[in-house]
Amino acid sequence: MAETRQWHLASRPVGEPTEENFELVTVDRPEPEANEVLVKTLYQSVDPYMRGRMRDAESYAEPWDVGEPMKASVVGEVVESNAAEYDEGDIVTGDLLWAEHAVADAGELQRVDPDHGPISTALGVLGMPGVTGYWGLNDVCDPKPGDTVFVSAAAGAVGSVVGQLAKLSGARVVGTAGSEAKIDWLTDELGFDAAINYKETDDLSSAVKEACPNGVDCYFDNVGGPITDAVWPRLNVDARVAVCGQIALYNETEVPTGPRKLTKLIETRATVEGLLVSDYQQRWGQALQRLSQFVQSGDIQYRENVVEGFENAPDAFLGLFEGENIGKQVVKVADGQHA
Ligand SMILES: NC(=O)c1ccc[n+]([C@@H]2O[C@H](COP(=O)([O-])OP(=O)(O)OC[C@H]3O[C@@H](n4cnc5c(N)ncnc54)[C@H](OP(=O)(O)O)[C@@H]3O)[C@@H](O)[C@H]2O)c1
Repeated sequence: MAETRQWHLASRPVGEPTEENFELVTVDRPEPEANEVLVKTLYQSVDPYMRGRMRDAESYAEPWDVGEPMKASVVGEVVESNAAEYDEGDIVTGDLLWAEHAVADAGELQRVDPDHGPISTALGVLGMPGVTGYWGLNDVCDPKPGDTVFVSAAAGAVGSVVGQLAKLSGARVVGTAGSEAKIDWLTDELGFDAAINYKETDDLSSAVKEACPNGVDCYFDNVGGPITDAVWPRLNVDARVAVCGQIALYNETEVPTGPRKLTKLIETRATVEGLLVSDYQQRWGQALQRLSQFVQSGDIQYRENVVEGFENAPDAFLGLFEGENIGKQVVKVADGQHA
């Protein structure tokens, strides 16, 4: 019987995850039943939210099980089909497994058209992170021309989309990132008005104040922690804060303190709103269509950090917490006709 490999959750991390938390397991290749297809993974996504799934049920609503394969969005090629909708060779995307092959119900998959650009973008700018940035910015922040939009983890998958969309809306855009190469990309190529390398800045509060002389009208927060502490005092009257992610806190073992000066919210009447991309299922296609137009026209640029080899998937995931990625972090698992 043909075999395939999967990454299983070996143990739940305490603090920073390590390679010990992952186990590479060889299993029999699954066979599709009626209305199912067998997908060969070409690209696998690694995403910060996965850190939450590694927690236990007490601290996270939908944890992964220890000893079981972990879930991931993938782009893959149909290699066997028992579903009328798909033929062998079709390129599809869906939420499958950290696996070289996985079986999926036809209804769980979306078709990816290789003629529309690199198929891996279905995991990034034209996938979940792009949709998060699109609706998070437009629905929650709703930037107006002349507003100052501040975005953290600005050179990442979500942040780079947010910043460029905010520029297109006529806002002044400021971001944070953790390397000079990222800062150069933001300011020289993506059109950010200013960018702060938070790892090289002694006084983050002063840096934010200097970069945002008119205060902050929209704060798209991917990070939390000290960056939020620095942005908070700069919020303007009627500011909108979109809490998208808190990656600076995902590996904390103690409950951290947050901004305590909530009088700022009274003074500014600011709105702080959490957002979850899965709430936008009904408007997913609308965001993808618009993002696709922006990518085609060159109004939105994107980058991918492609880690080669399925065996390196845990490294690629761990790299997110070290800021190793510029743009979307993806794992190239195999070559396909279109990979
Ligand atoms: N709410 C939702 O529905 C939703 C959906 C997708 C993503 N998210 C969240 O959005 C955020 C960005 O996700 P993404 O997929 O676009 O990831 P990403 O930004 O492409 O990658 C993560 C980045 O976070 C930064 N980072 C890591 N640890 C940090 C720390 N301790 N302090 C400051 N920055 C740190 C790193 O960049 P630098 O350090 O170089 O800046 C790293 O490259 C994450 O928090 C994620 O959980 C939320």
